[in-house]
Amino acid sequence: MDLKMGTILAAVTVLAVGCKIQYKTEQISYKAASANVSEGKRMTMLACGSCHYNFETKDFSGKKLEDSPKFLGKIYAANITQHPEHGAGKYTPGELAYLLRTGIGRTGRLMPYMHRPNMADEDLDAIIAYLKSDDRAVKPSERNPGETKYSPIGRLGLSFTKAGKYQEARIQKPVEDPVRLGKYLVDNLACFHCHSKSFASLDVHEPERSKGFMGGGNKLRDAAGKKIKAPNLTPHATGILNWTESEFRRAVTEGVSKDNSVVSYPMPLFAELTQAETSAIFAYLKTLPPIDNAVK
Ligand code: HEC
Ligand code: HEC
Repeated sequence: MDLKMGTILAAVTVLAVGCKIQYKTEQISYKAASANVSEGKRMTMLACGSCHYNFETKDFSGKKLEDSPKFLGKIYAANITQHPEHGAGKYTPGELAYLLRTGIGRTGRLMPYMHRPNMADEDLDAIIAYLKSDDRAVKPSERNPGETKYSPIGRLGLSFTKAGKYQEARIQKPVEDPVRLGKYLVDNLACFHCHSKSFASLDVHEPERSKGFMGGGNKLRDAAGKKIKAPNLTPHATGILNWTESEFRRAVTEGVSKDNSVVSYPMPLFAELTQAETSAIFAYLKTLPPIDNAVK
C-alpha cells in the first residue's frame, strides 16, 4: 500500500468512528387494521424472506448475507421470530411500523435495508400481523444467526445514508393498474436495489431516480463469494427486450433463465408472486427507458 492510500484509509477510519448511525426513536402508536395473516405471510416471504428466512430451519431466524461486499464488514440479517432476546419479540407493532417506514430500529440503530417509505398500509398491516401471529415460522427461536459488524468503510457508508422521517402514510396499493402495481412491487420487493447501477446511488423515496435504474451492473457476490453483476432488466436488447412474459415469470418464480441456465444467488426466488403480479412487473419494466448495458 503506498503512502497516499494509507493516509486516505486513516482519514476514512477517523471519520467513520465519529459518524452518526444512531438516532432517536419516536414512540408512535400504530393500530393495524384487522389484517389477513395468510396474505401477511406471503408478503413477509416476498419482502423480508430473501434476507430473514432461513431455509434450513424453515423459519425467520435469519442468516448471513453472503452477497454484501466484504469491505463493508460482516452483515447478518437478524432473527425476527418472536423470541424476546434473540428475536424481534420486544418490537411493538408501532416500532415495527417505525422501522419499516424510516429504517430506524427500536434501539435507535439505522438499518437501511428495511426502509420502505412507499409501502402501502395494507401490506405493512399484513406483515406486522403476520410477525405477531402464531404461525410456526415466527414462533420464538433462540438461534443466533451472528452479529453484524461493519468495517470502518461500512460505517462511513451508513453515515451517508439518510434515515427517513416517520409519516403516517395512508398509502393505497395500486392493485387496479398493472403498470403502477409493477412499479410498486419493483420498489417494495427491492428489485431496484440490486438491478440498478450501485447500492451507493439508490433513491429509496423515488426509486426511478436511482442511477442506472434497473439497467443492471451492480456488483454483488454469489453463494461461493464470487463476483456477480446484476443483469439489465430494461427493455433494451442487452436487457429483457426479447424476453416473453412467461420466460420472465419462470426466471423470477422458478429461477430458470431464458437460456435455461439457473438464476443463481443472490437473486431471491419470488415463488409466492401471482401471475398477475409478475405480469404487472413485466408490463412496468417495458415502460422504462431502455439502457444499453451488456452485463457479463
Ligand atoms: C436486504 C436484506 C433485508 C431485507 C429485505 C429485510 N431485512 Fe430486516 N434486517 C436485515 C439486516 C442485515 C438486519 C440486521 C442489521 C444489523 O444488525 O445492523 C435486519 C434487522 C431486522 C430487524 C431487527 C432490528 C433490531 O432492532 O435488531 C427487524 C425487526 C427486521 N429486520 C424486520 C424486517 C422486516 C419486517 C422486513 C420485511 C418488510 C425486513 N426486515 C427486510 C436485512 C434485511
Ligand atoms: C439481492 C439482489 C437481487 C434482488 C433483490 C433481485 N434480483 Fe434479480 N437478479 C439478481 C442477480 C445477481 C441476478 C443474476 C443471477 C445469475 O446470473 O445467475 C438476477 C437475475 C434476475 C433475472 C434473470 C435475468 C437474466 O438475464 O437471466 C430476472 C428476470 C430478475 N433477476 C428479476 C428480478 C425481479 C423482478 C426482482 C424483484 C421482484 C429481482 N430480480 C430482485 C439479483 C437480485
